[in-house]
Amino acid sequence: MLEDIFQSSTSVSLLVTVVGLLAFHNFYSSFSSQEKRREPPGPTCLPLLGNLLQVDLKRLDSSLFDLSKKYGPVFTVHLGLQKVVVLAGYKTVKQALVNHAEEFGDRDITPIFYDVHKGHGLLFSNGDSWKEMRRFAIATLKDFGMGKRITEEKIIDECHYLIEVFEQHEGKAFDNTQAISFASSNIVAAIVFGKRFEYKDPVLRTMLKKDHETIHLLGSPSILMYNMFPWLGPFLQNWKRLIENVRENEEDIKRIVADLKETLNPEMHRCYVDVFLTRKMNLEESESKDSHYHVENLVTSVTSLFAAGTDTSANTLQWCLLFMAKYPHIQDQVQEELSRVVGSRQVRVEDRKNLPYTDAVIHESQRLANVTPLSIPHKTSRDVTFQGYFIKAGTTVFPLLTSVLYDESMWESPHTFNPSHFLDKEGKFIRREAFMAFSAGRRMCIGESLAKMELFLFFTSLLQHFRFTPPPGVTEEELDLAPSVGFTLTPLPHELCAVRRH
Ligand code: HEM
Repeated sequence: MLEDIFQSSTSVSLLVTVVGLLAFHNFYSSFSSQEKRREPPGPTCLPLLGNLLQVDLKRLDSSLFDLSKKYGPVFTVHLGLQKVVVLAGYKTVKQALVNHAEEFGDRDITPIFYDVHKGHGLLFSNGDSWKEMRRFAIATLKDFGMGKRITEEKIIDECHYLIEVFEQHEGKAFDNTQAISFASSNIVAAIVFGKRFEYKDPVLRTMLKKDHETIHLLGSPSILMYNMFPWLGPFLQNWKRLIENVRENEEDIKRIVADLKETLNPEMHRCYVDVFLTRKMNLEESESKDSHYHVENLVTSVTSLFAAGTDTSANTLQWCLLFMAKYPHIQDQVQEELSRVVGSRQVRVEDRKNLPYTDAVIHESQRLANVTPLSIPHKTSRDVTFQGYFIKAGTTVFPLLTSVLYDESMWESPHTFNPSHFLDKEGKFIRREAFMAFSAGRRMCIGESLAKMELFLFFTSLLQHFRFTPPPGVTEEELDLAPSVGFTLTPLPHELCAVRRH
């Protein structure tokens, strides 16, 4: 394990010495503070490694879910020197994020997130800058049609390109990862840059390849170790690689921003970047002090939108198709409903209300896929007493979405693919309060309506055109639903056939 993490054996003895000293301090202070106030319970923590031996860093969310069954819905774990309060189960996560939105609403900016975004932008920022950037992003995404007809048209156009790529494989097995992430990132690109990239565009290809790798690295055991012991950075190959990827992507984004700046017309905005640049110029002219509209916030916000908006939507769609190939009788029912209600014309957003089964299948795919299992870590903004436990300001908090989407008290069959979770007795679509794939409260996902529109239009258009099956020689039972674990949960590398229906 250690060699796996360090890729260098000389670093191990250094690690043991320094950790020993730091751990003694950590053990002592956590022990003495627990005596003073009633803190959330948790497994006994070893001086050297905290609870690292009791959790599986390769599947942290499942380990924490198991621990919640023993220690309750609010409990403490020590990941090395880092103390984390875990919130588990629908009721507790909702109570914290919604009813105590302020106290649980800060982002935990771990060392790796600080390296990546330096506290700027939307995702890994706090305070006034985050507030302003989030307000700006929500308003601007709305102006550029998030959830409106204009975005619907863009997604429908992109469906045609995606279908074309799938058709080129002529029903033979292929890995759809790349095509789906091109399509999904083009929707964000349309809003942010006002342009779409050809799927063979080298800039798009390299950016996505690096993003994909970065997201995977972010969930790797060595980066989790780095967050606990940041001085390890220079010894870790994965850390160096990750920082390099991020910087190179920033350079690409800066080049696109510079091109947009050259042709900027403040009277006619083409995209998110245009609105930001105009706001920045106006504030500079009025000599406004302490403006948050600077280049770092622009580049980091754009990076955040791509990072948060591309991989999540793309791999949810991949999960949807994998579930269809795995459960052909469910695919039959989706295709029967689509043929009966829509026929062969283009599906539109307004069709959704007449496609309850299809809608339920998409929601159930998202629930079971559980793409952001730990949400994105939060931090308490002030001291809080929650469910009778004292939690200090600045404590890292994991709202464990796995435990909400698989909550046994909220779902009839939490671990199986069951579209009836979202259907009433008459077969009408029903919303479920424990469907919290986009989290809740102050830091809730700002791209929810865009993601839902994308998923619905991409999924239905693909299912209208293709039948999804396992590759020849592979049975449905053999299709593996185990996830590949990174910052998000993606399907393991796999191939499917997309067989033309008409
Ligand atoms: C299926 C697709 C998606 C899923 C499952 C998803 C899920 C999430 C989750 C769980 C969070 C963390 C919320 C929290 O900290 O409590 C989040 C945050 C965020 N999401 Fe999404 N998301 C999706 C798509 C998108 C899209 C399409 C965009 C933008 C175009 C987007 C932009 C963001 C941003 C900017 C944040 C950070 C919000 C903040 O920290 O204030 N997401 N998302």
